[in-house]
Amino acid sequence: MGLVCEKGRLWVLDQTLLPNKEEWLRADSPPQMASFILDLKVRGAPLIGVAAAAALARCAEEGASWEEFKGAAMLLRRARPTAVNLMAAVDRMLAACRPAGGKAGGKTALAERACAEAERVFDEDVALCRRIAERGARFIQDGESVLTHCNAGGLATAGIGTAVGVIRAAHESGKRVHVFVDETRPLLQGARLTAWELESLKIPYTIVCDNMAGSLMRRGKIRGIFVGADRIARNGDFANKIGTYPLAVLARHHGVPFYCAAPVTTVDLAIETGERIPIEERSPEEVRRDWGPRRARVYNPAFDVTPAELLEAMILDVGVVRRADLLKGRLSSRVTLKPPARARR
Ligand code: MRU
Repeated sequence: MGLVCEKGRLWVLDQTLLPNKEEWLRADSPPQMASFILDLKVRGAPLIGVAAAAALARCAEEGASWEEFKGAAMLLRRARPTAVNLMAAVDRMLAACRPAGGKAGGKTALAERACAEAERVFDEDVALCRRIAERGARFIQDGESVLTHCNAGGLATAGIGTAVGVIRAAHESGKRVHVFVDETRPLLQGARLTAWELESLKIPYTIVCDNMAGSLMRRGKIRGIFVGADRIARNGDFANKIGTYPLAVLARHHGVPFYCAAPVTTVDLAIETGERIPIEERSPEEVRRDWGPRRARVYNPAFDVTPAELLEAMILDVGVVRRADLLKGRLSSRVTLKPPARARR
């Protein structure tokens, strides 16, 4: 878990420095939290929603007016475009804190409402992760090797994670599980963060470069692939860290079941298909680093979209939706969440 609130102060674990350094940063204000989110110091779809809610609660506690609170909410909402959890959490804070009947309720009332709602956002994320893990663990059998991409673990959520939470639950139930961890170019969330988590959980793992997964599958070394999501469209297509889509294509070719594990807060019912999910493009420097020519042109999308048809199943906290049901459009009947008002594009 990469965020704590202690004695009225909000702290985030700087995930850009892991695993070499564990440094906690104080998030003093919404602009500061927005810049931590943009820089991936705080990252992972569920966690950025929780972090934005916590930052809003802190700013209300510091005495923000309703107008200032709304301004801060808009700033946080725009910090990253793909993970819908961010927009959903901010909109939820706005809805919970909006003064009743158009009358300003005073700063104390705003602070009370904001703190209570941010705590609920946090606690619910913990519970959602637990339910995903319980539902997903049965898809891993004793003695199997699975693969995961990016980091969908405790660092990316307030709880035990989504895809990594599923693996963790299987491990904790006594099954012997081995995890192949895609390094996850260009920012190495797999090699740095997932490996760090698995190490501390004592779950056996092996890091592989992203381009090695196909060869492992061909050799029959991988029995299942578990990934998280940043936004799931109504038809079950989903955006996740760049490199997820080619993994899903490889998995289909080799007959390896491919699972997406996510909370309902990642579902965006306002978006019909994955085509319409906004994909963040990040700085060329993340790819070019020190080894590419300074003027080399770079394409750096942070996410790609995997069509629902490549999934074996979507493991949600509310239930498992198999491919056949996803393709019949049955995802929306399992999810009762209201889509975030301004997330439509
Ligand atoms: O750019 P990041 O590191 O925030 O991307 C994170 C991912 O793509 C995760 O797989 C996703 O947010 C799910 S986290 C439970």
